[in-house]
Amino acid sequence: MSPPPSREQKLTQAQPSVAAVVVLAAGQGTRMRSRTPKVLHAIGGRSMLGHVLAAVAPLGGARTVVVVGSGRDQVEAHLADIAPDARAVLQEQQNGSGHAAAIALDALTDVDGPVLIVNGDAPLLRTSTVQALVDAHRSAGDLLTVLTASVPDPTGLGRIVRDGEGRVTAIVEERDATPEQRTITEVNAGVYLGDRAAVRAALSRVGAANDQGEQYLTDVLGLLVGDGAPVGGHRAADADDTLGCNDRRELAARRRTLNDRVLDDLMRGGVTVVDPLTTWVDVTVDVGPDTVLHPGTQLLGATMVAGGAVVGPDSTLTDTEVGEGARVVRTHADLAVVGPDVQVGPFAYLRPGTRLARGSKVGTFVETKNASLGEGSKIPHLSYVGDATIGEGTNIGAATVFVNYDGVAKHHTTIGDHARTGADNMFVAPVTVGDGAYTAAGSVITTDVPPGAMGVARATQRNVEGWVGRRRPGTAAAAAAEAAHGRGTDDAQGTRS
Ligand code: UD1
Ligand code: CA
Repeated sequence: MSPPPSREQKLTQAQPSVAAVVVLAAGQGTRMRSRTPKVLHAIGGRSMLGHVLAAVAPLGGARTVVVVGSGRDQVEAHLADIAPDARAVLQEQQNGSGHAAAIALDALTDVDGPVLIVNGDAPLLRTSTVQALVDAHRSAGDLLTVLTASVPDPTGLGRIVRDGEGRVTAIVEERDATPEQRTITEVNAGVYLGDRAAVRAALSRVGAANDQGEQYLTDVLGLLVGDGAPVGGHRAADADDTLGCNDRRELAARRRTLNDRVLDDLMRGGVTVVDPLTTWVDVTVDVGPDTVLHPGTQLLGATMVAGGAVVGPDSTLTDTEVGEGARVVRTHADLAVVGPDVQVGPFAYLRPGTRLARGSKVGTFVETKNASLGEGSKIPHLSYVGDATIGEGTNIGAATVFVNYDGVAKHHTTIGDHARTGADNMFVAPVTVGDGAYTAAGSVITTDVPPGAMGVARATQRNVEGWVGRRRPGTAAAAAAEAAHGRGTDDAQGTRS
């Protein structure tokens, strides 16, 4: 079943808003100082490029072209993964955003109408903001409309120059701006909607006579204004949407903003977030109402937490499902399924393939992998459970190891329903313990235990009488033993309590 359409999808279902989308993602991202191409840096569960593509996808552009260059192999592989319908076009040399846009538009010669051109490093962009640009473009009947934002600190950004009547006349990059232009606080967001043919033609006239010696996409605006063409600027309602990301400090700041948005949405939906500063939730995560997220919780990837659950403190869940009313405390989980009313932790490690049925428990210092635990079953303390199937209502004794690896291959252990295994057991796989069976504490179980049997696999104890007095004379232990003997046989034999 596909989920109901979101507000943003409904907004755009009527007719496609743009004919095609171009994402500029070839830049070197020098300021990031990274081996990873800038647009592949991840925040909030997606790459920056992934966020941009997700924001523009609902606009219905029939074609999406991504300009790649620096780190192109990595970017292309990532694109194949997240947006297989997008086409990568190569900008061999990074001669500027205008040069990149021209290459993209040349790959779209059969497209007629408005093309959206977006910087690939704008991870906070939302569909509604781009849709507002589209609407402004349409109602003004512009040939080109640029998304702008008023920001308190415009440092490093292109300034929007307007004439006396408020019409946009040019974009000036900071390094080329006059001191007076630098005082302008309306900036270029790096999101443009323009007629393909008109923008492409103007790009042919863009030179590189600027401080960086690059062809600036931003110059197209002034050129079209010079031609007397209708050009406009649409100010974004929320300036955060337009913020780019050029270095690691901005990466941290964008991540913070995105996380705040995600947590705000969750809290509006009835989720308690005890400490928003230390709780990190990816945009791809779902959390149900009346769930409590304690400090230090990270919910990542395709994680889904149902309602009424408690997660944290200090828990990291990746691609993990948590059922209604479950409690997951100080836990690290990866690709695990935690059923309803299950208790996990504190200090548990659930590895891929862990499936915990309703009302079961994985306790303190327990690691599980490829293991399913039946309804109401418990692994309370200090155990490793790998490659196992455990039935319902079974209790696994403390300090148990499922010995699944013979040095070459992994093997499976099966424990039946309502079994009681003793503390400090080793289950040497492959081995099966039947329904209702018991095993003795300290057993190394290497052969199957039939249903209802007691499996005992340990050395028989022998006591060497008087050993301490003979071999450790003069010690506190010897004195204690002698005193016990003096008090009488009962005490000397020891009482079990
Ligand atoms: C750009 C804008 C600036 C705007 C800011 C918003 C230009 C000239 N300036 O500045 O007005 O305020 O974004 O964040 O566009 N790219 C290529 N090939 C290239 C060069 C760049 O594909 O040869 C891509 C980059 O990968 C990036 C985008 O174009 O996604 C913008 O380039 P970037 O270097 O980040 O420009 P800014 O200096 O941030
Ligand atoms: Ca940028």
